[in-house]
Amino acid sequence: MTADRARSALVASLVRDGRVRTPAVRAALETVPRHLFLPGLDPAEAYADVAVPIKVDDGVTVSSVSQPSMVAIMLEQLGAGPGHRVLEIGAGAGWNAALLGRLVGPDGVVTTLDIDDDLVAGARANLDAAGFDGVEVVAGDGALGHPPAAPYDRIELTVGSTGVRPEWVAQLAPGGRLLLPLTVRGSQLSVAFTHTAPGRLRSRSVRSCAFVRLRGAGADPGAEVALPDGRWRVQPACASDDADVPDPRALARATTGAGTDRAVAAAGSVADLWDGLGLWCAVADPGVVRLFGPPEGWAAPALFDLGGVRATLGLVAGDGCALLLAAPEATVRSCGPDGDLAAERLAGLVAGWVDAGRPHAADLRVEAVVPSLAEDPADGTEGATGPGGTGAGHVVVDGAGTRLTLQWGTAG
Ligand SMILES: C[S@@+](CC[C@H](N)C(=O)[O-])C[C@H]1O[C@@H](n2cnc3c(N)ncnc32)[C@H](O)[C@@H]1O
Repeated sequence: MTADRARSALVASLVRDGRVRTPAVRAALETVPRHLFLPGLDPAEAYADVAVPIKVDDGVTVSSVSQPSMVAIMLEQLGAGPGHRVLEIGAGAGWNAALLGRLVGPDGVVTTLDIDDDLVAGARANLDAAGFDGVEVVAGDGALGHPPAAPYDRIELTVGSTGVRPEWVAQLAPGGRLLLPLTVRGSQLSVAFTHTAPGRLRSRSVRSCAFVRLRGAGADPGAEVALPDGRWRVQPACASDDADVPDPRALARATTGAGTDRAVAAAGSVADLWDGLGLWCAVADPGVVRLFGPPEGWAAPALFDLGGVRATLGLVAGDGCALLLAAPEATVRSCGPDGDLAAERLAGLVAGWVDAGRPHAADLRVEAVVPSLAEDPADGTEGATGPGGTGAGHVVVDGAGTRLTLQWGTAG
């Protein structure tokens, strides 16, 4: 198959699946030759709807050419248009920067940053080969943004962050949009924010996503811990420096398979661990964790199948914990002296999610306030519930010094 035909087939499938919605994004994807950003791959591979790793350090992928469907979803969220000044953080091979160049046209400006010199050189060469010599590629740590070309109408991160850094907000034009893969209570979400007032952002759309994490000054190692048996891992929903973070070791007794079970209304699907029920529970209760176990033993048939491992939700309370089991029926298992307390909380969260109509990431609204930039430092969280609430609202202070308010409701 020729590259042109493979590209047309890919874009047609993205339109059919609703990933591409606007003529502008469609035209950009139809005209930018992705295969020139993946030299060495044949066209069928270059136009498959998958992310392609381009740099691996110590067995960990640190750079990739992003998955086309995710790129399309994010370009629709970003809404970059003719004449816009755009900053991309995470150039990779330069493909998305070329798409941005097409969207902003000859009157716009695109600057893309990467933290690694070799990736910057590769992106520059690819962009030149594809005819995008007007896109600027800069080596630098995107945690700091790129003040020389600010202010920007649009800032897009194509790399995950655990917080909204004040630098990005400061470099965003009034009414501009910041789009980033943001870790919210353990779920990575592609959040498009509108800059509503100095130091204030409001989400206009939220989607699920999965990106490599920022390196450099904005890096966050995450709070995942291995349990003593070495076969189970726990991912707390709270950041490691959060005062409410549960002691993950309390989960060790849940891994034995012993406990008392009670039926609950639903367990959701594996995707719901991050996008639906799991997000709902983690927003409402800082004791919620995601738990990963081995693919054999008692847990194999009872937990969600996540490729090589099994996964589920847990909740720690005092000297006990509770576990969500998906099969043979939706169940919450209590373990340890305070297990009933934990199970009651987890069952209450499940019931709340079902009653609310099983909301997911797209139903979440996020407000961000950078106190040092806001004219009115009030955070707008009046009426938000605190830890232990049932998902109506919650306040998170992120590691980058920006306060996020999370609320369920109708989002874009
Ligand atoms: C998923 S890749 C980017 C994909 C790319 N935009 C595309 O068109 O497919 C993420 C990139 O972010 C870069 N990155 C990681 N930390 C960074 C930082 N602090 N500043 C700038 N770039 C960073 C990585 O080196 C990697 O190239």
